[in-house]
Amino acid sequence: MAQRAAIILAAGVSSRMNTQMAKVLHEVCGRPMLGYVLDACRDVGAGKIYAVVGFGSEQVKEWFGDAEDIVWVTQDQQRGTAHAVMCCREYLKDFDGETLVLCGDGPLIRAKTLKTLIEKHEAEQAAATLATAVLDDPAGYGRIIRDVYGNIQGIVEDSDCSREQWLIREVNPSYYLFNNRILFEAVEKVRPDNVKKEFYLTDALSLIIATGHKVVAITAVRPEEAMGVNSRRQLSVASKIMQARIQRQLMANGVTIVDPDNTWIDARARIGQDTVIEPFTYIHGEVTIGSGCRIGPFAFVRHGTVIEDDVVLGVFTEVKNSTLAEGVRARHHSYLGDAMIGRHVDVGAGSITANFDGVKVNRTKVGDDCYIGSGAILIAPLELKDGSHIGAGTVVSQRNVNELGEGTEKDVSK
Ligand code: UD1
Ligand code: CA
Repeated sequence: MAQRAAIILAAGVSSRMNTQMAKVLHEVCGRPMLGYVLDACRDVGAGKIYAVVGFGSEQVKEWFGDAEDIVWVTQDQQRGTAHAVMCCREYLKDFDGETLVLCGDGPLIRAKTLKTLIEKHEAEQAAATLATAVLDDPAGYGRIIRDVYGNIQGIVEDSDCSREQWLIREVNPSYYLFNNRILFEAVEKVRPDNVKKEFYLTDALSLIIATGHKVVAITAVRPEEAMGVNSRRQLSVASKIMQARIQRQLMANGVTIVDPDNTWIDARARIGQDTVIEPFTYIHGEVTIGSGCRIGPFAFVRHGTVIEDDVVLGVFTEVKNSTLAEGVRARHHSYLGDAMIGRHVDVGAGSITANFDGVKVNRTKVGDDCYIGSGAILIAPLELKDGSHIGAGTVVSQRNVNELGEGTEKDVSK
């Protein structure tokens, strides 16, 4: 098997996105777009990944900086996708393997499709293999030009299309596998002869074909996978598609999602078997939920939360950066932030942890089998022993718990 490297193009300025941030850091279901593309490359065995960054490069490197398999390549001026590939020349010029080239703004790419691409490339012993997709609305994408026999002749960018070419619905999703040496021979020759005066990677493909090398394509790529995110609107469409994928996977894992259209679950969330997610629930960030739980309706579960098995979170309950042990009940209107809630604790309606004192965030620890009456305010930092009983409407601070002394904390009512 050939050695494999990957180049991810992620240096673009993205005027259409209208942002100060690097485009590839914009999130799809809680993860930057680039994260999905990196994972797809890793899943198909790309040993080293050359990420070409430019606009906002410091932010991008900071975000993914720890990853050892990424080589950061800087493209100072964004002169086009072929120019971006050229920036990797010093690293890859003597590499004798296969090089994947992908765009960082295509988060919907699936490893499965890349595998198909690689298999086709190797079976056909091609110089280059691309993917194509047929879209109802091909506007904005490079169009695939074929001769009368169906052989691919090249790709013409949207802004350079003739009237007839403009009607072609088969487009370039912009993921390719190249024989590395042939790729670099071709990108060197690309000239900016187009409306935008950019060096197009798509022209490198035409050059490879013109030189007589074999270029093949996998054609049955799903339209959704072809999507490049160039605008906020496309970001929201991509997020919707990703959300459906996340939910489909969770349901296959045995999670019930009562109303998928009115539920939002972060890509980083993990949820156990036989847990039921009721409508209008929003799970955001790294969250782990155990088995047999019931979450929502209208629950907001935030980053850093671990919910063990058999927990019930009801309406308008918000949990942030907290651990809820097995059997906890918080059925109505609660806020639990930076808390450790013990086993089988009953959190009454409207009870909250007051975790922020205006300067810093403090932690609350509630022991096992406690009862927190309705409307209680637990002022952090606070520690309640196992079996504590907090009367309804109580404002509990560590001082009044201490004043009550040993043995009396079982009833800390006002
Ligand atoms: C590109 C393809 C087009 C394809 C579409 C799919 C080219 C010329 N066109 O068009 O055929 O249908 O993607 O989404 O390749 N980038 C750099 N440096 C640059 C320019 C771009 O790193 O100098 C990066 C961008 O950050 C982006 C990617 O390359 O992640 C694609 O660039 P973009 O400007 O979005 O190209 P499209 O017009 O979408
Ligand atoms: Ca794009």
